[in-house]
Amino acid sequence: MWDKLRKHGEAVKGRRFETLVDADRAVIFSASTGDIRLDYAKTNIDADGRALLIDLLEEVDLASKRDAMFNGAAINETEGRAVLHTALRNLDGGPVKVDGVDVMPEVLSTLDRMEKFAADVRSGAFKGEGGKITDVVNIGIGGSDLGPAMGVLALAPYHDGPRCHFVSNVDPADISQVLRSCDPKTTLVIVASKTFTTIETMTNARTAKAWMGERVSDPAAQFAALSTSEDGTAAFGIAPSRVFGFEDWVGGRYSMWGPIGLSMMIAIGPDAFRAFLRGAQDMDRHFQAADWSENMPVMLALVGIWHNQVCGYSTRAVLPYDNNLSRLPAYLQQLEMESNGKGVSMDGEDLSVNSGPVVWGEPGTNGQHAFYQLIHQGTRVIPCEFLVAARGHDDDLHHQHQLLVANCLAQSEALMKGRDLDEARSKVAGKFEGAELERQAKHRVFLGNRPSITIAYPKLDPFTLGQIIALYEHRVFVEGVVLGINSYDQWGVELGKELATALQPIVEGADASGKDGSTAALVGFLQKHGV
Ligand code: F6P
Repeated sequence: MWDKLRKHGEAVKGRRFETLVDADRAVIFSASTGDIRLDYAKTNIDADGRALLIDLLEEVDLASKRDAMFNGAAINETEGRAVLHTALRNLDGGPVKVDGVDVMPEVLSTLDRMEKFAADVRSGAFKGEGGKITDVVNIGIGGSDLGPAMGVLALAPYHDGPRCHFVSNVDPADISQVLRSCDPKTTLVIVASKTFTTIETMTNARTAKAWMGERVSDPAAQFAALSTSEDGTAAFGIAPSRVFGFEDWVGGRYSMWGPIGLSMMIAIGPDAFRAFLRGAQDMDRHFQAADWSENMPVMLALVGIWHNQVCGYSTRAVLPYDNNLSRLPAYLQQLEMESNGKGVSMDGEDLSVNSGPVVWGEPGTNGQHAFYQLIHQGTRVIPCEFLVAARGHDDDLHHQHQLLVANCLAQSEALMKGRDLDEARSKVAGKFEGAELERQAKHRVFLGNRPSITIAYPKLDPFTLGQIIALYEHRVFVEGVVLGINSYDQWGVELGKELATALQPIVEGADASGKDGSTAALVGFLQKHGV
């Protein structure tokens, strides 16, 4: 099937897809559920291309693999685990079994405990030594940071709980800046770590405990933990009543729906958090029920496969025209690149196609004044993914929102249409002439024919954020299934961790002679300057 797709890709390469885009195409090459819409009309995918892409799904038997995931099969084969983040938002979807045991009673009772605790923190029923909690510090990294940090920012208009801070980096600059802005007597520290062994998180957690211990008589009483490790949280001294556990079938980067989302729940309140879960559940149901060509996650994935594995465009830019989604690109970098950045298939064979793409981006319109130059006129094609809401949260500034929307639509139009030499000439005709006019005009040519997709929705509320994040999660799953890889392990992060542990004593002064020349010289340089 890849051969047929590649042949088709070659045959249509260079075609101006602008010529395909009419009102019908905008309907046929889009997908939606409820009020959220994916438009992929501004790509070079035509009916034949889409049919071939959909054939890929049949070849890999996507339907059975999807059902296996939702039904708790151990699809994370290298770790022998089920993949059931969907159970965390299965609010009224019935039993979900892992090894014959329904996990839903435990999921719902943990959600209930989180809601009670969040409500108590918000109301002041749970107090610090100095009274009502004013600041929550979430200490975690990767999936134990990026989801809630992105979500709290995304839902800033709904944030009516205490201030939330996120400490992730082992760089002392991160924690010291946050702690300087908090009063230990009214701060709740949440240690978020699935394994409770991650060195950055445990180091920061100890620093926070010492900081609190200087001013508070019982620092552990102002700590909560989110983890799968009961032993680890107990050894740290956190009372079981403030430990919110989950199972190993929740992957770190898929975990914001459960305990790892506690800081977000405290920020926006349990009701808004439930709306967020409902949005995700809505996307889950759509993913399970819609025909492939109308299925948003499936089509989003196939567009990704078309651009990366068929056309060879190896990066994609995520460009939210929604400032509150400013951390979405960082969140998606982990979700997509830790999941699908694999060079070996599930059965241990080398991949014969590109692995998942490099994902990057910034909110519009800021990006327009920074890197869009390269997107419009650079030599590489970078598929762009725009996100835009019909309405913002400030009704009195709606005219500014309209300008934002106009900018978003203008960018995808500019990328598609470009500007040819004749038009460029006409732009500078009065100012230059002869060879200089030609030279100047050439600099103003936009080749166009650059693909983009747009995800549009009414407003970024908790329900919609849930839909968007679940949409991307399922996209990653579908792309992973098509590539035949395991999207749920992350062996690629291990080597660096091991070497860092081995290097720590050397940085502190132990003999560096076993190290390569470059590393030993860098250690020497840094030691000379005081490391
Ligand atoms: O190093 C990668 C990783 O394992 C991520 O997959 C994970 O989200 C992150 O570290 C944090 O892990 P933990 O929640 O166990 O501290």
